[in-house]
Amino acid sequence: MVSRVIPVDDFDLVIFGATGDLAHRKILPGLFRRFKAGQIPATSRIIGAARTAQDDDAFRAEAAGAIREFGGVTGEDPQLAEFLSLLGYVAIDARGEGGWQELKARMRPGAVHAFYFSVAPALFGDIAERLAGHGIADDDSRIVVEKPFGRDLASARALNATLAQHFHEHQIYRIDHYLGKETVQNLMAVRFANVLFEPLWNAQFIDHVQITVAETVGVAGRGSYYDKSGAIRDMVQNHLMQLLCLIAMEPPYHFDPDAVRDEKLKVIRALEAVPPQDIVRGQYRGHDDDYLKDAENPESRTESYVAMKVRIANWRWQGTPFYLRTGKKLRARTSEIAIIFKEPPHSIFDDSGQPKANELVIRLQPNEGMNLKVMIKEPGPGGMRLVQVPLDMSFADALGPDGADMPDAYERLIMDVIRGNQTLFMRGDEVEAAWAWTDPIINAWEDSKRRPEPYDPGSSGPDEALRLMHRDNRRWREIRS
Ligand code: BG6
Repeated sequence: MVSRVIPVDDFDLVIFGATGDLAHRKILPGLFRRFKAGQIPATSRIIGAARTAQDDDAFRAEAAGAIREFGGVTGEDPQLAEFLSLLGYVAIDARGEGGWQELKARMRPGAVHAFYFSVAPALFGDIAERLAGHGIADDDSRIVVEKPFGRDLASARALNATLAQHFHEHQIYRIDHYLGKETVQNLMAVRFANVLFEPLWNAQFIDHVQITVAETVGVAGRGSYYDKSGAIRDMVQNHLMQLLCLIAMEPPYHFDPDAVRDEKLKVIRALEAVPPQDIVRGQYRGHDDDYLKDAENPESRTESYVAMKVRIANWRWQGTPFYLRTGKKLRARTSEIAIIFKEPPHSIFDDSGQPKANELVIRLQPNEGMNLKVMIKEPGPGGMRLVQVPLDMSFADALGPDGADMPDAYERLIMDVIRGNQTLFMRGDEVEAAWAWTDPIINAWEDSKRRPEPYDPGSSGPDEALRLMHRDNRRWREIRS
């Protein structure tokens, strides 16, 4: 398979927070990979902006270090020097006036202008105001904002209102990096580019859906941020919510930003409130790996794991629960969506050949692929014995080198910003609706003063999460890589 790379238009991209972790780990290495792929015109400019006083060359050296460390560049790569020549740097004071005129002078008329806010959300308003106030951004400019987008409905609304003072909604790109993952986009391709699944994609044929995002990492190193957040704010309100939307939404009339986002919004608005008995929160507790130590807060009640049963109140999904779970320090790093179909309504076989329900598992990471479990006859004489076998497809095997070498989410998303395509970005009303659903869950928990259930690091999470399923005569799929 030959991958098709369509170069984007000539652009000036300003990265606020260019000396920070996200820029080093994701943004700069991602841009370099797109440059190598031939997607970035050699006339484009990438301008780092941060408080540190340094010149272009110092920033280029810093970027080279980050690209080597996080971009998998070993040895001499002649394209690295070429890429670095696109880079420049302006020392800027987000809350003062220093540096803004210099930034303005660097922006080239005629190029696409994008401003990446890779900074603490508290600075979003200051930067937006100065970009507009100094006449650096105009009605065609784009801004990119990172999560966390608020910590509840009120703060998300305030943030939307602040940005709206200076930018129109069509200029604002709210990143949820899960939407940039190739296999997450594949959910839409699987559903809407095949005739096979959609007729069965409803409560009549689907017993339940399981969405799992399991991580092996803990929170050590970012404990103070994480402890104020927890799994619901950090993962459910955004990443798992987006996965849920893509699985549950109605077919949009077109693969167009607002058509897709309108359908996602309808799903979020149809989510029922989650009663306390349908949620389990956990905290990894062990001798070496201990949440309380990692969070540096011996009294913490913040969850590093959450499992919940979610219902969608609409015609398509009435009676089909969605079970979501995500956690840190679990047995394996794996993200998957499992669609568990209903059992055939009647079996023509005797008891020894009872058909089992079909399962469609979409593996998002690692080893991206799809697996459909179907019943067949066990080979050999001796009657009709049925056995369930997987129709297993790894994208790497099916697509050759392109399938194994999938672009990182940030690469795709930044190129979409330059192209002016908002399909894979969250709209303001979507983010607010997501908070409107999670706020009561979070508040009820905080009011209850309960402690999360402890679970062993390296396990599948707390036993209570197993019971959440057993109660409904169902079981979680095993967490394994
Ligand atoms: C981030 C969360 O948004 O997503 C992290 O803040 C989490 O806590 C990360 O580890 C997971 O992303 P990925 O791409 O590694 O699955």
